[in-house]
Amino acid sequence: MKNPSEFLTFAIVIAKEAGKIQMEYFGKITAFKKKSTNIDLVTNADIESEKYIINQITRKYPNHSILAEESGDTFNESEYLWVIDPLDGTTNFTHNLPIFSVSIGLVKKKIGTVCAVVFNPSADKCFYAEYKKGSFLNNKPIKCTSNNTLSDSLLVTGFPYLHDIKYDLSFEIFKEFYDKTRGLRRLGSASLDLCFVAMGRFDGYYEFGLKPWDICAGSLIATEAGAKVTDWDNSKLPFDGSRIIATNGYIHSKMTDILSKEKYKKIFK
Ligand code: IPD
Ligand code: CA
Ligand code: CA
Repeated sequence: MKNPSEFLTFAIVIAKEAGKIQMEYFGKITAFKKKSTNIDLVTNADIESEKYIINQITRKYPNHSILAEESGDTFNESEYLWVIDPLDGTTNFTHNLPIFSVSIGLVKKKIGTVCAVVFNPSADKCFYAEYKKGSFLNNKPIKCTSNNTLSDSLLVTGFPYLHDIKYDLSFEIFKEFYDKTRGLRRLGSASLDLCFVAMGRFDGYYEFGLKPWDICAGSLIATEAGAKVTDWDNSKLPFDGSRIIATNGYIHSKMTDILSKEKYKKIFK
């Protein structure tokens, strides 16, 4: 990238250091705690990675605000907000599956996410983007696919930890897409799902019931690689992660036509 900002250079360094912390724990997890439900886990790697990232940010930008998964938020007067998922893909991590990342996004008031890094340390893949400057994977520009039919598309999705009525509907949606596409995958790391749309491994991704830290960085990386990223009814992407769809653009309305059907409307409530 030409002229990366000081923010991006800094975010890449700390994401890679946090990735080293993850790798020190990877394959050795014997204990974890449960959070919102029995299947929502947190390990020492999540905690240590987050501690490191927050320390670095507060040292360098003491007046910036921070929203981080494990320790909540610190709001200051600043126009900048760092949004952090210290380990995205904790279930994979605890099962020694190398699909997980560090996700760091920087949001600027009145603009949105301006800088993003998603680092997958087990594969040494560092995705990054800046607002209006494109998306990169290990210093090479990336672009999403140009497939324009659902029947030729490979999609990715995820399922929420909470098993309620919305969760049941998500399987109906899964079936509908499974019937209409080349297939659908569930990899277990929302930030990497978005990066894989950005680099063209998948043509589209959708999910609901996420949190800001799951999608903040990945959604900019996808957008800057040419993806369209919106709410399920094609309106503006909600910051809170309640619903997201990211596609190559060509299959976007074909997918939102399905996701915004009346019978799936409970997912909007
Ligand atoms: C989870 C992953 C997963 C998604 C979950 C997220 P975590 O994040 O991104 O792909 O389906 O809903 O909560 O808990 O591993 O940070
Ligand atoms: Ca996450
Ligand atoms: Ca996490």
